[in-house]
Amino acid sequence: MQNQRPRLLVVDDDRAILTLIGTIALAEGFDVATTTNGEDAMKQLRQRPAELVLLDLRMPGITGLDVLRSIRDVSPKCKVVLMTGFATIDSAVEAVKLGALDYLTKPFDLQRLRQLLATVRDEAAQRREVLTLEGDLAQRLEFCGMVGRGPAMQEVFGLIRRLAPHVRTALISGETGTGKELVARALHKLGPRSSKRFVTVNCSAVVETLFESELFGHVRGAFTGATEHKAGLFETADGGTLFLDEVGELPPPVQAKLLRVLEESEVQRVGSLEPRKIDVRVVAATNRDLLTEVAAGRFRNDLYYRLNIVDIRLPKLSERREDIPYLTAAFVRGFSQRFNKPLVGLTPGAERMLQEAAWDGNVRQLRNVIERACILAEGDFVSEGDLSGSMQEQRLVPAAAAASAALPGAARGESSPAPLVEVEREHIIRTLQQVRGNKAVAARLLGISRRAFYRQLERHGLHQRIPMSTRTNEPVSS
Ligand SMILES: Nc1ncnc2c1ncn2[C@@H]1O[C@H](COP(=O)(O)OP(=O)(O)OP(=O)(O)O)[C@@H](O)[C@H]1O
Ligand SMILES: [Mg+2]
Repeated sequence: MQNQRPRLLVVDDDRAILTLIGTIALAEGFDVATTTNGEDAMKQLRQRPAELVLLDLRMPGITGLDVLRSIRDVSPKCKVVLMTGFATIDSAVEAVKLGALDYLTKPFDLQRLRQLLATVRDEAAQRREVLTLEGDLAQRLEFCGMVGRGPAMQEVFGLIRRLAPHVRTALISGETGTGKELVARALHKLGPRSSKRFVTVNCSAVVETLFESELFGHVRGAFTGATEHKAGLFETADGGTLFLDEVGELPPPVQAKLLRVLEESEVQRVGSLEPRKIDVRVVAATNRDLLTEVAAGRFRNDLYYRLNIVDIRLPKLSERREDIPYLTAAFVRGFSQRFNKPLVGLTPGAERMLQEAAWDGNVRQLRNVIERACILAEGDFVSEGDLSGSMQEQRLVPAAAAASAALPGAARGESSPAPLVEVEREHIIRTLQQVRGNKAVAARLLGISRRAFYRQLERHGLHQRIPMSTRTNEPVSS
């Protein structure tokens, strides 16, 4: 991942220049693309972002300045260096004011060109390092395979932590794809029976007539086809957890039997009168509103209250948009490993797209969108183009609603402040990112001595991840 080449796009109507710069940039470790006109340059950048664009100021068609403005819109982090003859040097200066990194005058000072390329290349490498660091951080903050930094999920995690050691039954409700199964597994994993089985029954997939036999087992001859004694899933899960997924689909007669099992902690195999003691934690999940089902007479009132003693509600993804960047980072990380691709993150445009989508399919849908994008992506970053295919059916939400939740931590609110050390760590990482890994500058920004800053890096376990900077080679002193 660290050896990934940064990308350079050279835009000039003079092909000799494209060849010259291309050759030098390749030698400096860049992945090089070239084009002779501004329109094509923008098209290329939309498809695949570049770290650096070398842009001729004067070209037929749209000018370098126009291209510069569009790049500022589409990909604000992309560095642009203008190329210009002496005649147009004033416009070049103007361009720098507009946000260009620098300008080169033709004919080129090749030494200066090499230096510039080396600087951008090294900074790109450092940026990748910091992003990887953020990925590591996200991974460490996972809770039993679940990512969730906002107050809503933090509350859910807290609930799971408190309940897991004790509960006998629990109900998990939430729309499809919100993570109900992950919560059920977390309750199991953090409970006293984690070494025993976690058995899943998908209640919507069992043939109605086989339900009782599936859950409670049967004896030989209990019904046609029952040629052997058979243990039911309750017995299989004995000592562990039975996960009743889509519990709202249980047929009413089975609901009655389930209630009895929960109350008496014993099962009877179909066709047998002999009760067997079982000790099973029952975790049920539903994506329906069970109270509505109760009101409609489709779900037993008494069973509902028996299960509902502990009710864990999972919010929709659109109600916890602050988690989207963290979920995305975790998924990108996972898929880039799975597909063996050196992806480090998303372009700003792609992040915005995810932040603003409706997400009716919740986290599962986000995961699927990212999976597809990771397969399509080329280079280091997932771009808007990689996402667009699977997001066309996505309704967009009003930007204001999305923006209010766009910043991680912004929606944390007063009610559940993050631990100070976590905030501190995050702040350090952000600062490093801002200054592209330059620790001397980061220390100055944070208002502490360089030595104190190194101590902080060590304290937060960040010191090994960042190589002692190639750019700050002065001795460490306080
Ligand atoms: N907080 C989370 N962090 C990471 N991955 C998550 C999270 N929530 C859900 N997922 C992922 O999203 C997908 C759907 O999760 P899960 O199967 O638990 O949802 P569900 O609520 O059971 O959905 P359904 O009602 O459709 O069965 C899974 O791939 C899961 O790993
Ligand atoms: Mg599920």
